[in-house]
Amino acid sequence: MVIRTSTEHVSELRKSIRRLPQEQVSEFLEQVIDGNGSRNFGTLRSECLNRLRINKMEYANVLTDQPSVKGFDRTFPYSDEAQLMIEYVKEKGYHEWADMLIDPACGAGHIAIGCPLKDRHAVRVALDASSRALEFTAINRYCNGTDMMIGLNDVGDGLSQWDHSEAQRILFMANMPFAPDPCATNGFLPMASSSDERGSKHTLLALRAFKEFAHGLTDGRAARAIVLVYTIFDEAADRYDLVEQARRLFPGRVSWEFLNDTKVWRINGVKSFPNPMPLELMAERANCRFDVADSRREHARRSYESLAERLKKEGWSHLACGILDIEL
Ligand SMILES: C[S@@+](CC[C@H](N)C(=O)[O-])C[C@H]1O[C@@H](n2cnc3c(N)ncnc32)[C@H](O)[C@@H]1O
Repeated sequence: MVIRTSTEHVSELRKSIRRLPQEQVSEFLEQVIDGNGSRNFGTLRSECLNRLRINKMEYANVLTDQPSVKGFDRTFPYSDEAQLMIEYVKEKGYHEWADMLIDPACGAGHIAIGCPLKDRHAVRVALDASSRALEFTAINRYCNGTDMMIGLNDVGDGLSQWDHSEAQRILFMANMPFAPDPCATNGFLPMASSSDERGSKHTLLALRAFKEFAHGLTDGRAARAIVLVYTIFDEAADRYDLVEQARRLFPGRVSWEFLNDTKVWRINGVKSFPNPMPLELMAERANCRFDVADSRREHARRSYESLAERLKKEGWSHLACGILDIEL
């Protein structure tokens, strides 16, 4: 594992938090949220606070990187997507149904920690391919007092490497990297966001892993997957690329929830355009000072423009955001 400077700060914060008695931890988090924690907490360097943020969610406080942290492995800084997925799960009642929750790409743990589950004995599992993300998840597990398994896992390697035999009703909640990225190697965006040209690569890896996982389930056990996606969309024919691909993998078992009220395409921390968004607007991502290196901005703009042209020649017109809800 490569330790970057910013990771050292995280380790330092984690050690500091560990020294606090449990009952003081939430108070500490409140102080940090209020912005005066550094004064009261001697061992914490102010630099640490500049690099970190705490997302206050309904059921959890989640420490993660600031969007301004540079580097491919910057941990996902935002909680809005997790919150949206949690709202969906609550609306459908899946949080009352599940006795195991698995986030295969947990980031700092917004979903794995922040999703309420009715069953007090339900097991939570948080996996990610980034050791830096898991370091945050471990801090957040500790700070929120959550009982949860954490594991380093590439979703492309499958999802069966731990004992889940006791679980009867398994809920996957996946928010894989889904922003189209026109650079196949050495992408323009950080790992937490960067997908392939269609935005579908990691989602498809996850769907295949779910399928393999579901094949291994014995009678009476059930699993469901809730997956937040960007998909390319042909408005004239009302065709969503990823919905078609998911339906091919799971015939008759996929519901598609197009997210009417959600904006898409995050630029400088803000989702900027109505859903669905014309493909030409993808090039605006090149202006994102958090995600795209200054030295590559012009290259990124041209690459997104030519990607939009290629996709339009294939008949696609928009980028759309929605939730795949799959009975596995
Ligand atoms: C959009 S973030 C979502 C994080 C978290 N679930 C949330 O909603 O806040 C996507 C996460 O996928 C992880 N990731 C990227 N490639 C992966 C892979 N092949 N297998 C597992 N996780 C991966 C990234 O490290 C990142 O933490």
